Amino acid sequence: MVPLVVFVGLIMQKSLVLLKPDCVERRLVGEIIGRFERKGLNIIAMKMVRVTPELSKQHYAEHVSKPFYPNLEEFITSSPIVAMVIEGLDVVRVIREMLGATNGLKAAPGTIRGDFSSSRQMNLVHASDSEESAAREVSLYFQASELCEYTPTLVGSFRAGDES
Ligand code: PPS
Repeated sequence: MVPLVVFVGLIMQKSLVLLKPDCVERRLVGEIIGRFERKGLNIIAMKMVRVTPELSKQHYAEHVSKPFYPNLEEFITSSPIVAMVIEGLDVVRVIREMLGATNGLKAAPGTIRGDFSSSRQMNLVHASDSEESAAREVSLYFQASELCEYTPTLVGSFRAGDES
């Protein structure tokens, strides 16, 4: 898929973001969504989902053979999650940096995990690690018809038109 080029050198991307069971159980959903909104990112799809073992194996296909996978599957299927698609310039990198390191104990203060997590498994949020992963992961959770792409009327208040 050819990404839409916006401004010089920056591309509009999508990322699949999951607010994991610990995020829902700890009532941090609003706090985390608020961070993405305040950053100016565009949430273009969102729903609550109960991940099944089958969906977990598809989502975490590259980890299924790892020793920690059974614990990861038990965790991600343990209670509902909130699945979102977020769109923005360079958004895969931007969101991964907002999350911080995988292990909450190692994540920098000011990042989501650095501020709220002290675990590698219960690290609150998943986000796609590349454009290719995003395309695959978005299609696992959402139909194309569920993506509500739009241009916010305030777009001119977030970036100047001539920024590269
Ligand atoms: S690895 O080992 O580097 O390939 O894995 P990593 O990218 O750090 O983590 C991938 C996802 O697996 C989860 N994870 C774990 N869950 C349970 N137990 C252990 N030990 C563990 N290690 C990693 C981790 O939270 C990542 O989940 P996502 O949803 O991708 O953030």
